[in-house]
Amino acid sequence: MTENLIEIGKKNAAIKAVDENVKNNMIIGIGSGSTVVYAVQRLGEINKEKSINLKCIPSSFQAYQLIIQNGLELVSLEQFPEIDIDIDGADEIDKNLNLIKGGGGCLVQEKILASNSKELIIIADFRKNSETLGMKWKKGIPIEVIPMSYLPIMNKLEKLGGKPSLRMAKSKSGPLITDNGNFIIDVDFGEISNPGELNMDFLKIAGVVDTGLFIHMTSKAYIGLEDGNVLTLKKKK
Ligand code: A5P
Repeated sequence: MTENLIEIGKKNAAIKAVDENVKNNMIIGIGSGSTVVYAVQRLGEINKEKSINLKCIPSSFQAYQLIIQNGLELVSLEQFPEIDIDIDGADEIDKNLNLIKGGGGCLVQEKILASNSKELIIIADFRKNSETLGMKWKKGIPIEVIPMSYLPIMNKLEKLGGKPSLRMAKSKSGPLITDNGNFIIDVDFGEISNPGELNMDFLKIAGVVDTGLFIHMTSKAYIGLEDGNVLTLKKKK
């Protein structure tokens, strides 16, 4: 039953976000994860029905396939370096619309798209809406690292007060390898009172490619609630 409500929440949030934000001829960044699937299906439907000439840039191999499967036009950041809107999921969203992302391991490309987009629109179900990062997402903050540097980075993260673990692959022995050929360290800092500062601390460590902390990037978040409604949260001005 709860499973069902989660899926309905994801779908409702995705449809509302697409219907309220997508316009003719837009360049759209496509995030990754299970919620984005519903958004890309909707984009495919309206693109066909209304012939609105959408162009989509993927954030992962998954997103690349979704774009093709839904009959959308696949383009690149090289052709269109400025994205109109980027639609993506999140693992946790705090009261200031800061995010933890990277549960699906695609945080680097996701952050590249988000940072080159006029607007980042987040879609999620009710489990993701939180007061403070780390209250609900208990798997730690994902950090993508260059493989040779993983052990010294884990030691440094421990010194910063975190509990790091190297993300392991499923159905293969050894670490998970990202779309960029890197490793991911998930580091638990409990509840994070100052995510912006922590993010800067991570980025100073040599070998860190990027982090799953998305600070002051989100324009709007659409949260699919258990009662079937969608809560819209907007960036404070
Ligand atoms: C992918 O790396 C993540 O950042 C996803 O966007 C995030 O994990 C949300 O995924 P779901 O939509 O599956 O919850």
